[in-house]
Amino acid sequence: MVQVTFVDVNGVERRVDGGSEDQSLMELAKANGIDGIAADCGGACSCATCLVHIDPDWTERTGQPDDIEFAMLDMVADVATVSSRLACQIRLSGALDGLRVVVAQQ
Ligand code: FES
Repeated sequence: MVQVTFVDVNGVERRVDGGSEDQSLMELAKANGIDGIAADCGGACSCATCLVHIDPDWTERTGQPDDIEFAMLDMVADVATVSSRLACQIRLSGALDGLRVVVAQQ
C-alpha cells in the first residue's frame, strides 16, 4: 500500500492510504474524490486535467516526463512548473510511499 498526501485545488490537504502498485497517481486521486483532478481523458495523456505539482523532496523519485507527457505539459505552460507532472503518468510504487503533491489550479 502506498500513502499519498494531496493538497487539492481548494488548498485542503488530505492523506490517502491504500494506493496500490497497479494504480496511477491520477487513479488514486479519482478513487478518493480529490478536488481538481478531472482526468477528462481517462489517463491517455491527452487532456492535462490531472496536472499536479510534485513536492520538491519527491521529484527525483517521481522521475521526469517522457516526450509525450512533456508535450502536454508544454501546452499548459502557463500553469506548469519544473515540478509539474501529469498524475496519470505516475505509476505508484513503494518508492513513492509518503509522496506529497499539490493539485494545480487550471
Ligand atoms: S488524465 Fe488526461 S492527461 Fe492525465
